[in-house]
Amino acid sequence: MRMILYTGKGGVGKTSISAATGLELARRGYKTLVMSVDPAHSLSDAFDLDKPLMKLRAGQLVNVARNLWIQEVDVQEEISRHWESVYSYVSALLNVSGLEQVLAEELVFCYINKCNMDRCMV
Ligand SMILES: Nc1ncnc2c1ncn2[C@@H]1O[C@H](COP(=O)(O)OP(=O)(O)OP(=O)(O)O)[C@@H](O)[C@H]1O
Ligand SMILES: [Mg+2]
Repeated sequence: MRMILYTGKGGVGKTSISAATGLELARRGYKTLVMSVDPAHSLSDAFDLDKPLMKLRAGQLVNVARNLWIQEVDVQEEISRHWESVYSYVSALLNVSGLEQVLAEELVFCYINKCNMDRCMV
């Protein structure tokens, strides 16, 4: 499986290029998923679907052509659903960044669970 990531500031063409790349890869015979993690999803517009995809099939894969699926992900919901894994990942990230395992876990626990912070950038 190959992951292709398009990032950049607003309006540079991420959605358009992702959609176009998806179409071309599907045409070449690759089973392809175009996924949006932008809270202001516009994939459904790019693929000219009637209703906003989030409301119609929130978070699910939607087949739009042969070999081609699209998905508009609600990042907040996914974080809540996979909180255990996210917690372990942030803890492991702090750990490989030079902190000891115990300290890394303490930091995650403190800043995310105990200290009542809303945001924490590492
Ligand atoms: N290669 C291009 N040439 C000219 N116009 C383009 C090109 N790619 C995209 N556009 C136009 O630029 C505008 C923004 O494109 P798009 O929505 O794909 O960008 P985006 O990076 O996904 O934006 P956002 O950050 O708002 O999600 C659209 O009107 C689109 O039609
Ligand atoms: Mg976009």
